[in-house]
Amino acid sequence: MTQSATQEQDEAVAGDDRIQVHCGDAYDLMATLESESIDLLITSPPYWGLRSYGQDHNEDILKQWLAEDSARVQTDVPPYEWYRDHGGVLGLEPLPEWYISHLVEILQRGAAALKPGGSMWINIGDTYFARWSSIRHDGRQGLGDNPRSRRRTPMGGFRQEKQLLLIPSRFAIAMQDLRWILRNDLIWHKPNIPPRPEKDRLRLAHEHFFHFVKRPKEGRAKYFYDIDQVERGARDVVYYDFDEIEQVEGDETEISYYDYQEVEDGAYDVVKTHARSGSDGHSATFPIDLITPRILSSCPPGGTVLDPFCGTGRSLSVAAANGRKAIGFELHKPFHEAATKNASEAAGQLSFDLGDDVTEMGA
Ligand SMILES: C[S@@+](CC[C@H](N)C(=O)[O-])C[C@H]1O[C@@H](n2cnc3c(N)ncnc32)[C@H](O)[C@@H]1O
Repeated sequence: MTQSATQEQDEAVAGDDRIQVHCGDAYDLMATLESESIDLLITSPPYWGLRSYGQDHNEDILKQWLAEDSARVQTDVPPYEWYRDHGGVLGLEPLPEWYISHLVEILQRGAAALKPGGSMWINIGDTYFARWSSIRHDGRQGLGDNPRSRRRTPMGGFRQEKQLLLIPSRFAIAMQDLRWILRNDLIWHKPNIPPRPEKDRLRLAHEHFFHFVKRPKEGRAKYFYDIDQVERGARDVVYYDFDEIEQVEGDETEISYYDYQEVEDGAYDVVKTHARSGSDGHSATFPIDLITPRILSSCPPGGTVLDPFCGTGRSLSVAAANGRKAIGFELHKPFHEAATKNASEAAGQLSFDLGDDVTEMGA
């Protein structure tokens, strides 16, 4: 970070110099990063209209924005700084259009810090529109039954009752419009999503994990990528060639022919990983198996990983445990403390304990 970094922030940096965890708003902290110092930005920002993460939000902010100028319409988006100065919280924007604009604005502030051959992986989930929606104080999307508060969202345009808002796609297109090259739209399939009361649609059981790289001034994008580090789909795929099956007399066990050479070698853009209820009071913790291949394939050994919305620091811990340096930003103090502790501990380990994170890959 630069000299002036986080001077006015409530900062704490873990003892190990391979790890820095800063408490503050990613909007401010992004601007303090050294130019071309980051190999991989990997994160899961707050999703739109789901959780407050303990922050107080000004529910009259849309009215206040419109009252300032009679020529304004709802979809004219205030800059993030105006929004925050007026009590707005990222993720609780009155309209999804505002949220996408703010998220892109914050990420864009980190663009200069990303190396030309760096990568950005952004995990983001979708939301159904409801005129009256409930905001959870915490809780992973689709899991848990946490305290909620109700709020009214203005309808109009694509914002219609029962509409799947396609927020991830709108976000990805907004990034493309700012010159980012989208390399993958990885689908994270969450097989453990509980049943929903709706009887007229399927359950929302996936989230997106977008891989962006920088567009060079000339030619095709070139960036670090180690494909040997991604999931091997062969792990849970079995093909039987029935012509080869022989029944051995007296043997009750099923006999099958398994030709490993014939099985796809993985590297699919769909990954099946159970969503977990979280750790350290945070319910949206990254599954280790979802992010380890991203970190190993998109950040060279010894390189630097940044998570600007690091929560309890799962990505930082995985990065540190795999010989990468890590920088995290987190607004909420208790999560910042947990991230500092978790990442420092991981930095001291040779290999990170995978715990009980259950993952099936190559769906
Ligand atoms: C989806 S969670 C990330 C969880 C994280 N991937 C993990 O494994 O723990 C988003 C996090 O962003 C934090 N956050 C929200 N707004 C922020 C902001 N403006 N700057 C920094 N952090 C913010 C929230 O407190 C929350 O912990």
